[in-house]
Amino acid sequence: MDHQKIFATNLFVIDDFCKDSTDSMKKYISDLWTNRKYETNWQTKSADLHKQKEFKYFSDLVLTTSKDIIKELDYEVEDIVISDMWANVLKDSEHHPVHTHSNNFLSGTYYLHSDQGASIVFHDPRPAADVIVPRKKNTTLNNASLLSYASKQNRAVIFPSWLPHWVQQNKSKNKRISIAWNIHIKGQLGEHHEFQSATF
Ligand SMILES: [Fe+2]
Repeated sequence: MDHQKIFATNLFVIDDFCKDSTDSMKKYISDLWTNRKYETNWQTKSADLHKQKEFKYFSDLVLTTSKDIIKELDYEVEDIVISDMWANVLKDSEHHPVHTHSNNFLSGTYYLHSDQGASIVFHDPRPAADVIVPRKKNTTLNNASLLSYASKQNRAVIFPSWLPHWVQQNKSKNKRISIAWNIHIKGQLGEHHEFQSATF
């Protein structure tokens, strides 16, 4: 029997993602946080961290890794750009509700400072997948309806931007600081002869 896993949702988990600049990124975010104008579910106001010198090493790493992913998935892409990059500070008991990252191809999150208090959760995006859900002996990647990934410090999780996700309530007394980003494709997408192309 040939078990084929068709129409895959491609998610990448990379531990020990960033080996440099974490102190300078922490300081940059912490300085903004100190001057914050509001308390709850704080995020950096402008999503331009990738344009700051403190984030140069990190942004280059995000681009290199995204290019590796695109290569791994066998896409033909002229170039990619980081469209947004921002930071989130999640305090005790805070959470992020379900959302997607519109107008982009790949998105990611990186745990700059976290003691795993709040995981990121993805649910099965196939609309008919929950019509019949048998009981499970074990939850595995073959039968899961929900998958959560711990917000382990120095871990990056990269996923398709359309994939709905949320962040569980932070059960830690410590703040959870994450950096999130969106990646978009430049150049031609799709094929002219299939009448489904676009150029960005
Ligand atoms: Fe998100």
